[in-house]
Amino acid sequence: MSNPIAGKHIILGVTGSIAAYKAAILASKLTQAGAKVDCILTESATQFINPLTFQTVTGRKAYLDQDLWAREGHVVHIGLAHEADLVLIAPVSANTLAKLAHGIADNLLSVTALAATCPLVLAPAMDAGMYAHPATQQNVQMLKERGAEFIGPKPGHLASGLVGLGRFAEPETILSRVRFLLGKNGRLAGKRILLTAGPTQEALDPVRYISNRSSGKQGYAIAQALLDEGATVTLVSGPTNLPLPEGAQVIEVTSAAEMKDAVMTHLKDKDAFISVAAVADFTPSSTAGEKIKKTGQDLTLELVPTVDILRTVSEERRRSNPGMLVIGFAAETTQTYQNAIKKLQEKGLDLIIANDVGQPQPVFGADENKVTFISADGQVQEFPWMPKYTVGEKLADFFVQKWGL
Ligand code: CTP
Repeated sequence: MSNPIAGKHIILGVTGSIAAYKAAILASKLTQAGAKVDCILTESATQFINPLTFQTVTGRKAYLDQDLWAREGHVVHIGLAHEADLVLIAPVSANTLAKLAHGIADNLLSVTALAATCPLVLAPAMDAGMYAHPATQQNVQMLKERGAEFIGPKPGHLASGLVGLGRFAEPETILSRVRFLLGKNGRLAGKRILLTAGPTQEALDPVRYISNRSSGKQGYAIAQALLDEGATVTLVSGPTNLPLPEGAQVIEVTSAAEMKDAVMTHLKDKDAFISVAAVADFTPSSTAGEKIKKTGQDLTLELVPTVDILRTVSEERRRSNPGMLVIGFAAETTQTYQNAIKKLQEKGLDLIIANDVGQPQPVFGADENKVTFISADGQVQEFPWMPKYTVGEKLADFFVQKWGL
């Protein structure tokens, strides 16, 4: 299983807005993600951008209104509409929104949208006043009620030089949203999974903290892989520099204590908990209210143990949710296998994912990981170095097997 965009047939409608040039970036990104992208440009879109641009980045014909009236024209829109997994109109102008809301079909794009039965995704871009106009707002409302998904518009600088709500969403955001929508009906649809990721920071004073080398990449990659399989994902994240996975509910925390509180608050009714975070095992016994000044003397820090979140969750599930799967990681520098099994048993887990972080090839901050899955029923799967996303795919396979999906 790769990302859910791969192999999908997407109709990308482009309408008359200066943001049309950004649609070319979007078409390129969708194509790179493995989609077959058929672009349909309205007459006004061609005032802003050339169809050749789309043809070049997608490697496929870009359609214009004249194609509706070509010799095979009476079926082109039906063919396109029926093959599509998704109709995405980005940017969508106020005019096209109005046509879609009222079922007007007077050009190839509006005719195709009317004939299509797949999900419709709309990314508006227009002057803020046009977007705020009651006519447009009613059209948006009508389309939402009919199930259309809106991405943006965002507040920001507009082509008119004014600042307002009408700015086209960034192509990356649209791409992530499309990925989320296309993955929704995957193998894990309906399953609720809570996971932690990243490091924690334990404050010493207002400017200093104790932390660790975790980048959060493994946890975020697992979150993305589970979203791609249709799971409902809640991610409790320590501080990272990573883009938030689109479609996940993300709770950002700083310290181990905050992470524990967030996990316990969101644990209810979950089907699985995965503890990927590198939670601090110790925290300063007290946090100085002011910056600690140097005195020329040694400074001794007193550290106290933090709560083991994974163990707490494992104990809690016995009481309140015995069906929930609990999965931990074991980051070890020696005797990886033995230490991991010990943690699996002591913490009462269903699966532990052991990784040797003491190897010459670094794991922290890297895009690849080398892990071994050890499950409570004694199954051991040792994997070669693989992308951190693939570790998430393997976990999805584990869930599918466990839940008999
Ligand atoms: N973990 C946790 N809360 C903590 C510490 C660890 O939930 N306060 C979780 C981690 O997210 C991981 C697992 O416990 O899934 C194992 O973490 P690791 O640091 O490898 O082991 P520890 O149990 O902390 O033991 P040690 O540091 O002694 O190896």
